[in-house]
Amino acid sequence: MKLNRRKKNYRVAVIGTGAIGADHLASFKLHPAAQVVAIAEVSAERGREAAERFGVPEVVTDYRRLLARDDIDVVSIAVPNYLHAKVALDALRAGKHVMLEKPMATRAADAAKLVAEAKKQGVLFMVGQNFRFNPDTQTARRVIERGDLGEIYHAKTSWSRRAGIPRIGSWFTQKRFAGGGCTYDIGVHALDRCLYLMGEFDAVAVSGQTFAKFGPRGLGNGGWGKSEVNPDARFDVDDLSVALIKLKSGRTVLLEASWAAHGPNADVNATQLFGTEAGLSLPPVQIFKQTKGGYSVETVDPLPPLVNTNRMVHFIDCLLGKAKPFVDPKESLAVQRILDAIYLSAASGREVRIS
Ligand SMILES: NC(=O)c1ccc[n+]([C@@H]2O[C@H](COP(=O)([O-])OP(=O)(O)OC[C@H]3O[C@@H](n4cnc5c(N)ncnc54)[C@H](O)[C@@H]3O)[C@@H](O)[C@H]2O)c1
Repeated sequence: MKLNRRKKNYRVAVIGTGAIGADHLASFKLHPAAQVVAIAEVSAERGREAAERFGVPEVVTDYRRLLARDDIDVVSIAVPNYLHAKVALDALRAGKHVMLEKPMATRAADAAKLVAEAKKQGVLFMVGQNFRFNPDTQTARRVIERGDLGEIYHAKTSWSRRAGIPRIGSWFTQKRFAGGGCTYDIGVHALDRCLYLMGEFDAVAVSGQTFAKFGPRGLGNGGWGKSEVNPDARFDVDDLSVALIKLKSGRTVLLEASWAAHGPNADVNATQLFGTEAGLSLPPVQIFKQTKGGYSVETVDPLPPLVNTNRMVHFIDCLLGKAKPFVDPKESLAVQRILDAIYLSAASGREVRIS
């Protein structure tokens, strides 16, 4: 199923119907040209429940059965992180258009294989960075494109929770299934949004540190996720991480992610950009600048979005030729390289250069 062979309707399979898989299913329903025809889910019970809730006619436990079918055009993947690269590569090799959950992979080398395979197959491949699609992000991008900020030279971006570990003992908190902790889980969103707003993804150097101060003590538990919890599993991922990222242009980004930390707010997912003419923060979108008389803080009313604010609707719009892909897999690969460099820097105690 190649991009140059456009169709009027697209038949979709969703792989993994846990917490975010349900969002995939609900989102595809919003597009009249999309029809979810099958689910692959290793938990027969979760698969059946999702199929009933969203009116999907077929459920299988082995996703490869769906990849072998010619009547499925699109595969939307929402499985634990360690399976992302494998399932996505299998789907791309089968010639399917692929929407993949973040993080793209658990190693940049695997992410690079996905970019190459999508190109080879000529299919649409996107990592579903939903915070890029968020109306605030799109408004901020429009403000930046207007030139209001002047030259953006530095940014701070974070997703910080007080007690939001996605259930201690779930796959999220085990390195072999998640690859990493809060850095891969929520740091990826804060970083992707920031780099998208700065219009630059390639970094040259990363200095990072990771901590695990709550999870190993059984503290900081949150409620996300549907799959099983193993009470005996060791918490061996990060619950807070920080990084200084130097971009190719010389601009800098400070990233902070925490699933659990003693902080002033329960849950803040925010980005600040520093420009020569003004600063911008979101959410909400605010502009800060010096005026003749002092200083002004302006809250910006929402501007028309650049693309549909639902990532799945946008994905189908791209297949129909009505929109241009909003998330380039090469950008997602660059994000993956930075995230991996944070872990490498934390492990080695050194700044990591990215070539
Ligand atoms: N974009 C976002 O905002 C967002 C939010 C949450 C999670 N995610 C990502 O989505 C993915 C899933 O997270 P979740 O919160 O839904 O987790 P979850 O544990 O709730 O669901 C994962 C589901 O995948 C199923 N699964 C595991 N192996 C499978 C296989 N081989 N084939 C089919 N199904 C399989 C599990 O049974 C489970 O139902 C993760 O990679 C996570 O990082 C993204």
